[in-house]
Amino acid sequence: MNRKYRKTVIAGNWKMNKTPSETKEFMTQFKTIMPKGRWCDVALCVPAVCIPAAVRAMRETRVGIGAENVNANPSGAYTGEIAANMLVDAGCKYVIIGHSERRAMGETDADVNAKVLAALEAGLTPIMCCGESLEQREAGITEEWITMQIKLGLQGVSEEKIRKVIIAYEPIWAIGTGRTATPEQAQEVCENIRAVVRKLYSSKNARAISILYGGSMNEKNAYELLAQPDIDGGLIGGASLVPEKFVKIIEAANQPTV
Ligand code: PGA
Repeated sequence: MNRKYRKTVIAGNWKMNKTPSETKEFMTQFKTIMPKGRWCDVALCVPAVCIPAAVRAMRETRVGIGAENVNANPSGAYTGEIAANMLVDAGCKYVIIGHSERRAMGETDADVNAKVLAALEAGLTPIMCCGESLEQREAGITEEWITMQIKLGLQGVSEEKIRKVIIAYEPIWAIGTGRTATPEQAQEVCENIRAVVRKLYSSKNARAISILYGGSMNEKNAYELLAQPDIDGGLIGGASLVPEKFVKIIEAANQPTV
C-alpha cells in the first residue's frame, strides 16, 4: 500500500451467495463491528437482487455497494442483463468486471473493455480483474498475459478517467482454492501492472491507481499481502461472507505504509 499517493480499497465479492434476507442480516452484524477509522475504502459487491437491501442497510455508512457484472449497452433487447445506469440508480458505486469466473463463461477482453467504458461513462468505479491460470504461470508467461489483459481492458479509457479504474490481480489458481499467492508473487505482478499503466498513461496516473490482490485472501494472510508496496487492497471472496473475517481484513489495512 502507499496511502500517500492512492487509496487502499478492501472489496468483498459475494459471487452467487446470500439472499436479500441474508444480506440484511449480514449488514446488521457488519455495521455493529465495522471499524470506525478511515484508513481504507470499503466496498461490498453483491448479487444483483441483493443490491437494494445492501444499499438500504449501508445508507448511513461509508461502505460502498457494488455489482458483480454489468452489460456494456445502455439499454435495449438484452433479456436478463443490467445496464450501468440501472446500477447507479439502484445506489451502486462499484462494479466488478472481467472476473475469471465470468471469463470462463465466455467473457472476452473486448467484452471487458466495453464494460469498463460503459461503467466509467455511467460514473461507476470499475474493478477490472485480470489473472493467469496455473498453466500460464508454469509456462512462464504470466507477465505477458497480464500485460495483454490490462492493455486490452483499458483500450479507449481516457487520461482523465484512468484514475477511476481499480485493477484487481487475481491468479486463477488462487481463487477459492485456499492457495494464496505469496506476498512476493503478488507484489511482482502488481508492480508489473503499475508499470503497464505507466507506459500507457503517465507516472502520475500509475502512482495514483489502486491495484488489489484477490485469491484466497483472508484474515490471516491479509496483513502481509497489504504490506507490499504495490498491493493497495484486496478483492475478497469467501472471507467477505463472514462479517468478523471481513472486518479483520479491513483492520489489516491499518498499518504503516511507505
Ligand atoms: P476467494 O475469491 O477470496 O474466495 O479466493 C476471490 C475472488 O474470486 O474475487
